[in-house]
Amino acid sequence: MSVRLRSHHPDATAALGASLARMLVPGDVIVLTGPLGAGKTRFVQGIAAGLGVPGRVTSPTFVLVRRHQGRLPLVHVDAYRLDDASALATLDDDVLAEDVVTCIEWGGNVADALPDDRLDVALTVDGDVGDAPRIVALTPHGPSWEARTDALGDVLAGALADGGSVA
Ligand SMILES: Nc1ncnc2c1ncn2[C@@H]1O[C@H](COP(=O)(O)OP(=O)(O)O)[C@@H](O)[C@H]1O
Ligand SMILES: [Mg+2]
Repeated sequence: MSVRLRSHHPDATAALGASLARMLVPGDVIVLTGPLGAGKTRFVQGIAAGLGVPGRVTSPTFVLVRRHQGRLPLVHVDAYRLDDASALATLDDDVLAEDVVTCIEWGGNVADALPDDRLDVALTVDGDVGDAPRIVALTPHGPSWEARTDALGDVLAGALADGGSVA
């Protein structure tokens, strides 16, 4: 089962992330996929805002991993340059640690290193990249996330109030 949303604005994509942040617990892993410019970083910025991370969260394109502190620690990974799943574990001890929330952009590059318990967030562009709407599909995997499917529905409802629509 997936929760699907159409986001008509970068702020709506961020609002979905911020709503999701309310239900996050230590050890959660969020795996983001989608083409360049789809809104993966925008979504993680929303999670960061929802966790109360102060300051600006930028893409860890070159540093590959960056840690932020909010209600929970947030570890933000960009796997774009990783072509081997085993490289994920060597990045930083915080990545996939049980006391942090880990968000991995380009997670498909390291699919073999991802835990069974995870939330996949697939972003696609409904038209040409630019201002075209984004379809955001949230798919729970593993017992931890399957137990929270109802709560994900509430996330959807909250995001709809912030300018999205059902895809
Ligand atoms: N509905 C939308 N959701 C997210 N981003 C959008 C949307 N519409 C336009 N954009 C723009 O698309 C770009 C997404 O960038 P970013 O989040 O860095 O993508 P990614 O990390 O997937 O490469 C931003 O410039 C943002 O303003
Ligand atoms: Mg990005």
